[in-house]
Amino acid sequence: MKKIFAANWKLFKSPKETREFFTQFKEVAGKAKGELVFFPSAISLEAASTTLQGSAVKFGAQNCYSHAQGAFTGENSAQVLKDLGGTYVLIGHSERRKIFGENDTLIADKVAYVQSLGLTPMLCIGETLQEREDLKTYKVLDEQLHYGLAKADKTKPLVIAYEPVWAIGTGKVATPSQVEETHADVYAILTKLGFEESPILYGGSVKPDNAGGLIKIPHVDGFLVGGASLEVKSFIDIASAE
Ligand code: G3P
Repeated sequence: MKKIFAANWKLFKSPKETREFFTQFKEVAGKAKGELVFFPSAISLEAASTTLQGSAVKFGAQNCYSHAQGAFTGENSAQVLKDLGGTYVLIGHSERRKIFGENDTLIADKVAYVQSLGLTPMLCIGETLQEREDLKTYKVLDEQLHYGLAKADKTKPLVIAYEPVWAIGTGKVATPSQVEETHADVYAILTKLGFEESPILYGGSVKPDNAGGLIKIPHVDGFLVGGASLEVKSFIDIASAE
């Protein structure tokens, strides 16, 4: 399976910074050992679209609503993203779940809608530290996948990003054995649900110095990177690590 290296820029980088980044990044993109996908903030998507034109580097939105247009103040349209040439949408990131109160029903609608447009949803799942300590990791991931994929189409592309919430932006990367065990669990749940073809990315404090070890773990099909994706060098080092 081809690896996927995805960059979640969260609420960083203006359109100007986005253009500058991609102008530099295109020079080194060929070093990556898999597909590259960037998720700029909504306001910088057009800058990504124009600067990446003609390049194999893909881009997508960090969120969208489950309708193309309408009276939905403040939302993003996946149809408009598609018109710009975007191909992915991040759905259900833990920051969307926690800060913006997104629940599994809304997430399931978004996954189905994004697939119906021919775009690829990248569904994020992950447990909190409390849930891990209470030995509820499997149950949480099972529920997030069961409900989040309830309306998904098994015949259309879909990517899963496993991001333990306690490892996001904290510098606390999950240990290789935690990653191995949890990715095996996620794969088993996906198999049970009929989505075993979906790549499973790991996210949470991935850096150039831990990427080489993590990418070799079974069922780690790539990364979803936050902080370390904001610099050209650190992200390409992650995407080419071995
Ligand atoms: O979606 C990526 C993410 O939440 C991980 O962030 O900064 O820990 O790599 P970071």
